[in-house]
Amino acid sequence: MDVNDKVAIVTGAARGIGKAISVQLAKEGAQVIATDLNEDDLGDTHDELIGIGNKSLILKLDVTNQDSVDSAVKKIIDEFSSIDVLVNNAGTIGARGWEERDVPDESDWDAIYAVNLKGMVKITEAVIPTMKSNRRGKIINMSSITGRLGTVTSPPYGVSKAGVINLTQAWALELAEFSINVNAICPGILWTPMWQRIANRWSLDEEKWKGYTPREIFDATIKDRIPLQREQTPEDIAYAVAFLASDYAHNITGQAINVNGGSHMN
Ligand SMILES: NC(=O)c1ccc[n+]([C@@H]2O[C@H](COP(=O)([O-])OP(=O)(O)OC[C@H]3O[C@@H](n4cnc5c(N)ncnc54)[C@H](O)[C@@H]3O)[C@@H](O)[C@H]2O)c1
Repeated sequence: MDVNDKVAIVTGAARGIGKAISVQLAKEGAQVIATDLNEDDLGDTHDELIGIGNKSLILKLDVTNQDSVDSAVKKIIDEFSSIDVLVNNAGTIGARGWEERDVPDESDWDAIYAVNLKGMVKITEAVIPTMKSNRRGKIINMSSITGRLGTVTSPPYGVSKAGVINLTQAWALELAEFSINVNAICPGILWTPMWQRIANRWSLDEEKWKGYTPREIFDATIKDRIPLQREQTPEDIAYAVAFLASDYAHNITGQAINVNGGSHMN
């Protein structure tokens, strides 16, 4: 996958999928700017990027805060002169205390919308002018299997991820004339802190899962829902991102690619 010397921003890069994407893009030769809510949390990602050796940067970037977005993008352009790839990975499944609520409340809807949709719009709109003037760019948005089919676990989360697919198509149409490709990825089920929160909640709440540990719930869910019978890993998602960020994908735009072991085939 050739992303040699491309300048790539990854949001939500402190852990889980975002960290794996940052590391994979760097391994493929990109100059990676790994960003997250707190710079301090990016230490592990930073260590791995330094080990790989390309020019890289870690940066605080809260996608819900316009000033944070603008100052991060300015700093990146000042230091790297260009932006070739934007990976919109930051996401949340609910507001603080989401696990304790039977039904998501307004704070959950607001938090999910602020990060998963409006946050994605803020950072993307800040990056588009540079990509337009370069007449090239790759934007990759993190959706989910829940963007394909509604979820009772967190309806606002599923709605936001369906919105990500729609937004991806709109941007793909709008930016095609500038040779900017915009695609989404729909990951399946991964044992990251996000899914650990879900399994933890089910272990406390649901009759069906009484006596199971969160990890046992996760394993049973994989067995039940994934035809390939294995969990997806952050690296699986990172490989798909690296492909979409590369020139091999120059004729792919407006698509939502499933990386889900066959759980959803549409
Ligand atoms: N884990 C799964 O099974 C799964 C499945 C489908 C889709 N996804 C999606 O993949 C992406 C990454 O998920 P993950 O499992 O690694 O989640 P995670 O919760 O482990 O990591 C999310 C990261 O986003 C960051 N973040 C949250 N709010 C932010 C903000 N306002 N600004 C910047 N960063 C912010 C967090 O600090 C964290 O580092 C998310 O968009 C998620 O919705 C995950």
